Amino acid sequence: MDSIFDKNCHGDYSRRESGEGLLAEEEGTLWNRKETPTPTCNSFAVCLFQLSALVLVFLVGTLFGFHWRGDLDGLCSRHVSQYSTVMKEVGIQYSLQEFNGSLLKENVFRQDAGPDVDAAWESLGVNYRSIRVPPEDAEKSGLANDQVKINAKYGGGFPANVEGLHHLHCLNLLRQSLYYNYDYYHAKGEGPFTNNDYILRRHVSHCLDIVRQELMCTVDSGVLGQVWIYPENPEPYVDFNTQHRCKNFDAVRRWAEDNQLPQDPPSDFLQPPSEGDRIYIQMP
Ligand SMILES: *[C@@H]1O[C@H](CO)[C@@H](O)[C@H](O)[C@H]1NC(C)=O
Repeated sequence: MDSIFDKNCHGDYSRRESGEGLLAEEEGTLWNRKETPTPTCNSFAVCLFQLSALVLVFLVGTLFGFHWRGDLDGLCSRHVSQYSTVMKEVGIQYSLQEFNGSLLKENVFRQDAGPDVDAAWESLGVNYRSIRVPPEDAEKSGLANDQVKINAKYGGGFPANVEGLHHLHCLNLLRQSLYYNYDYYHAKGEGPFTNNDYILRRHVSHCLDIVRQELMCTVDSGVLGQVWIYPENPEPYVDFNTQHRCKNFDAVRRWAEDNQLPQDPPSDFLQPPSEGDRIYIQMP
């Protein structure tokens, strides 16, 4: 290596131009520069041209940089979240939204157990069936090659659920399990309430813990200010109606709705595990 370096040091141009030794080329560049005669402006016109070109490039670059917002939302979402087919297909966008943080004013998601509140939560996609992650997206989406696959004759790929919709499913189960809602849903005995008490309890605590981890993972570093209430005798009160930069939830939901796997899949819908595929001895 020393000899190559030496040669470059002393300007073995034929060797460099032949493209031999990338490392040597890199190492040599600095040294060679010394020996290359410094370009001089042989005339004022050339100098001016070079300067103008430089300024032009700078201006075009600045303008481009200023106006090019490109897919900033996509760029940001890819930087801060796990890649997935959903992200790719939907195209994550952000927009300002105001949270409804009233303590006393109800909305449909907060109502006591009943058909209206159930329909509202249902409309968020909390019970959608799985979607398909195509094979070429699997690894990037965090799926291992030996995870459950769909049979090739039904299109192949991997069955998967959208995490955000699972979180909402979990929050919905917590809602159904509230002390003042529990009896209603227990008596109905649908969904998670078809399971025995032991499983139901574990399901609820699983949900609680998943939501905890999600909230910690994406900790909201915004702040809640305070407002004055009661003109006669003003008291400070926390204002929960704050502005947030939110992802396009409804686009994600719609995509997940439109891309659900069949309702009643044939019995051979899934490809059985192959030789060497990992099979856990218990629920992970
Ligand atoms: C707050 O409530 C309004 C009116 O019901 C609704 O349009 C808006 O989407 C809600 N905001 C959020 C973040 O849910």
